[in-house]
Amino acid sequence: MNRHKATQASIRKAAALIRAGGVVAFPTETVYGLGADGLNPKACARIFEIKDRPRFDPLILHECSAARAKKLFSKIPKPALRLMEKFWPGPLTLVLPKAAAVPGIVTAGLETVAVRVPADRTALALIKAAGRPVAAPSANRFGALSPTTAAHVKKQLGNRPDMILDGGRTAIGVESTIISFQGDKPVLLRPGGLPLEEIEKAAGAVLLRPAAGKAPLAPGCLKKHYAPAARLKLIAPGKAVKPAPSAAYLAFSTRPAGKWAAVKILSPRGDLREAAANLFGALHALEGSGARTIYAEKVPRHGLGRAIMDRLRRASA
Ligand code: TXA
Ligand code: MG
Repeated sequence: MNRHKATQASIRKAAALIRAGGVVAFPTETVYGLGADGLNPKACARIFEIKDRPRFDPLILHECSAARAKKLFSKIPKPALRLMEKFWPGPLTLVLPKAAAVPGIVTAGLETVAVRVPADRTALALIKAAGRPVAAPSANRFGALSPTTAAHVKKQLGNRPDMILDGGRTAIGVESTIISFQGDKPVLLRPGGLPLEEIEKAAGAVLLRPAAGKAPLAPGCLKKHYAPAARLKLIAPGKAVKPAPSAAYLAFSTRPAGKWAAVKILSPRGDLREAAANLFGALHALEGSGARTIYAEKVPRHGLGRAIMDRLRRASA
């Protein structure tokens, strides 16, 4: 049994495991992470093994305060400082030139490092008790659906992590928004839990993709990612699709007519935050229904809708 309810005692034990080079799955406000000592290359190597993740895909370092997180960078442009002050702790990852102490395995050899301060009590207590930055990708098998509960982690990774801290369902439900910089200009590498509109209010216009040959795209943002085992087809909301007992349906707010293998509704009141929080749980459940095809309705592309559409598009690639 490697799954433990998050308590002061289990968090202390998890922190000791991390200090000793172990690997621990833990909740954040976005999705569950698979964490190790971010300054210990051997421990970080185990993360890649446990996930079957290719080594060219760099990890995010998690810190427990903005002051500590800043030390992982060697250079911070002004708009990045504003974003840290305004949105940390929270679902925002910043990619900036790395400090010398950050090992190459964390950044996959890049000169930049991705860092965030999560807004989750268990995550913050764990990082604080570990006393070092915690390197953590999402706690899923490479290319599979991201986990928003400890049960999702257990289903995919079994006993491979030394411990799974169970802190309940994650509040936001999609991964952090990743921002890098071209000079002083923020660039969106991955839409996520912090809406683009809020970032633009604080730091001005965000480039939606790096200029060719400039900042690298997030190497992990491969076209096919976040894939359920069934075939996912994106459809316009309310578009009449013929119901089939071998197909499942992911609706935004309204139940579809007819008989389906399984149906999930992301947000009956049409709220994008609620929809994001329910997204991966719904996909895990529809995948578990044994349906061969999942029809997923498109959602409005503003606020958290941008992150939802990004994940659905990748799952359907
Ligand atoms: O919400 C989240 O961000 C979650 C929780 C656990 O914090 N973590 C997460 O990690 O989603 P992961 O590894 O699944 O996604 C991190 C993404 C990858 O696509 C990776 O390629 C990108 O961040 N990334 C990491 N370092 C980078 C760098 N130096 N430059 C560009 N992209 C980077
Ligand atoms: Mg991931």
